[in-house]
Amino acid sequence: MSANIPFAIIPSANPISAQERADRIAAPGFGKVFTDHMVTIRYVEGQGWHDAKVHARQPLVLDPATAVLHYAQEIFEGLKAYRLEDGAMALFRPEANAQRFNASARRMAMAELPEELFIGSCRQLVQIDRDWFPDVEGGSIYLRPFMIASEAFLGVKPSSEYLYMVIASAAGGYFKSGAPAVSLWVSQDYSRAAPGGTGAAKCGGNYASSLIAQAEAMKLGHDQVVFLDAAENRWIEELGGMNLFFVFEDGSIQTPPLSGTILPGITRESLLTIARDEGLTVREERYAIDQWEADAKSGRIVESFACGTAAVVTPIGKVSSPSGSFTVGAGGPGQVTQRLKEKLVSIQRGAAADPHNWVMRLD
Ligand code: PLP
Ligand code: COI
Repeated sequence: MSANIPFAIIPSANPISAQERADRIAAPGFGKVFTDHMVTIRYVEGQGWHDAKVHARQPLVLDPATAVLHYAQEIFEGLKAYRLEDGAMALFRPEANAQRFNASARRMAMAELPEELFIGSCRQLVQIDRDWFPDVEGGSIYLRPFMIASEAFLGVKPSSEYLYMVIASAAGGYFKSGAPAVSLWVSQDYSRAAPGGTGAAKCGGNYASSLIAQAEAMKLGHDQVVFLDAAENRWIEELGGMNLFFVFEDGSIQTPPLSGTILPGITRESLLTIARDEGLTVREERYAIDQWEADAKSGRIVESFACGTAAVVTPIGKVSSPSGSFTVGAGGPGQVTQRLKEKLVSIQRGAAADPHNWVMRLD
């Protein structure tokens, strides 16, 4: 299997006009405004990865027996391309996404993709769709690499063929409300992941099973769901699409450990590193939902925030469950949250020193 297969570049014959593009990216929100192109690479057992192409974004034609449609053998990633202060384009820690993609592939018994192909595919797509960066605060191009089991076969076994793709979308803020802090709903009835399950993999199935709880949260006027551990329904794990952090009155910060049931977020790991660099006391330890409530009420906890590629760093204002609600700190963005967010965003935008070499320039 060669990692250095060439990309055929076939520019779209019908790109969206400059005027239409400007209209679409003026207020892009998240996940709705797609660029002109996509990447596809195929894998066949015995032949390896081949047929890498950058071409016009187009619908897929799939045999109705395609394995992913039946047994959900699918994984994805999410990472952003940024414009740096000096105008250059860059990716943030794409090798970390490539490695997590392959960890997900192993868990889902799928073919691994050489890291150079993962990063190369992201690079190619950003380069050809470079006119799609939105000129809004926090604007970026959100890349969605993903892979499906593409063999047409109804037997239950790992597919012998895979289709890897990357699509891109102009992105602003993740939360529609634009509120300074988000409101969470603690899921009592549904677990996201269990020991031995797929919680640490970024597979579509995890999200499918979380949607009923997310729908419940939204119906009740909240933004996101907090999932607790499946065994005791007590230990805080993560949100439907973000990791969680707690800030204590002594200035220390804590986040749930990578127990195998939560996604090892790249934003989470970056913030842990930044916090340690800044001399904060950092703990990766489990934390119970009843303790969070007690600590928020007593003032021992002064801030909490969610973090992820799409959400960046988002303060948590209020937490609700069937037994009641509590407010965290003053219910809005706290100082430590703001400081960590500013540091992360400054590194991502090339406005602060990058001691860990996280920023990969594309031009
Ligand atoms: N947890 C879940 C379930 C997610 O979907 C995400 C988003 O990717 C995260 C955490 C945060 O991960 P990252 O910081 O790598 O985007
Ligand atoms: C991300 O932050 O990249 C995510 O995947 C979260 C969500 C959009 C699924």
